[in-house]
Amino acid sequence: MKSEILSLLRDRRDYVSGQELCGRFGVSRTAVWKAVGQLKKEGYHIEAVRNRGYLLVEGQERFGLHELESRMDTVWAGHPVSYYDEIGSTNQQAKLDAEHGAGHGALVVADMQTAGRGRRGRTWSSPPGTNVYFTLILKPQLDPDKASMLTPVMGMAVAEGIRRTCGLAPRIKWPNDIVINGKKVCGILAEMSLEQDYIHYLVIGVGINVGLQEFAPEVAKTACCLERECGKKISRAELLVNVLRSFEEVYEIFIQSGDLSGLRQRYERLLVNKDRPVRVLDPGGEYRGVARGVNDLGELLVERPDGSVTAVYSGEVSVRGIYGYV
Ligand code: BTN
Repeated sequence: MKSEILSLLRDRRDYVSGQELCGRFGVSRTAVWKAVGQLKKEGYHIEAVRNRGYLLVEGQERFGLHELESRMDTVWAGHPVSYYDEIGSTNQQAKLDAEHGAGHGALVVADMQTAGRGRRGRTWSSPPGTNVYFTLILKPQLDPDKASMLTPVMGMAVAEGIRRTCGLAPRIKWPNDIVINGKKVCGILAEMSLEQDYIHYLVIGVGINVGLQEFAPEVAKTACCLERECGKKISRAELLVNVLRSFEEVYEIFIQSGDLSGLRQRYERLLVNKDRPVRVLDPGGEYRGVARGVNDLGELLVERPDGSVTAVYSGEVSVRGIYGYV
């Protein structure tokens, strides 16, 4: 009930009488009073005035279970939410939850990770109070060969979620890093569990750099955060919900065809590498070309100097700009 009270108070932006809250949730005045008291203890500034009711005074950024639940107006993505002040890795927790029956759309969110994981065995720096770390559990009826396309699908949702929240226009560095002004603001790590030849579950973990922070020396030149780029405070809860809203939209388009055909143009508009020279770091040998776009499978189409076009699969290689990261 705390999340529902919060949601109502936030939407109303005015006093809501105790009587209305009692009627709405079918509980006693004492129960409402207790719930409001608990929200205040969690740090919410709620004014209680005799004969007028309760007013939520917005101000400080809040991030926690009730904040997230009270904003979550998605249909399925983000239901239910499990929130942790501190956790090893949301991906790890999501996998455990999925093993224990958590369903399609369940979400694991943390304020801080002690063992945040990046791609290629790297760590993902996850300090408290500043960033967004979440993992979405998916149980799609999809050929396992096609599952890797869900990472660029999430990439598109993150780019759109950032645009909606702070008005910035992020781009995607193939296949799914989100960049602003050529620097990485978000990383995505998908992991899959297979059962014979079908997907048992898939978890997609997303880390978005939001607040001002000191980056580790090895990423300082290539990483950025939203608050520095847009010069204002960002609500992490609002950002996360905006990403999930966008994800529901693009996921529906993706799942209809099971490939990127319905999203390809949208993806290419976001693709920072498009028509730029790239270095392809292939285990079989590095080569150069110009990135022309992607095919329906999300493979990068690289035009080689002799005019031939190679479709590059993301599992095998990294792609860099000629002079640096992008
Ligand atoms: C990358 O290396 O670019 C991917 C980084 C993915 C980080 C996120 S943070 C939430 C989720 N939990 C993890 O341990 N990793 C992902």
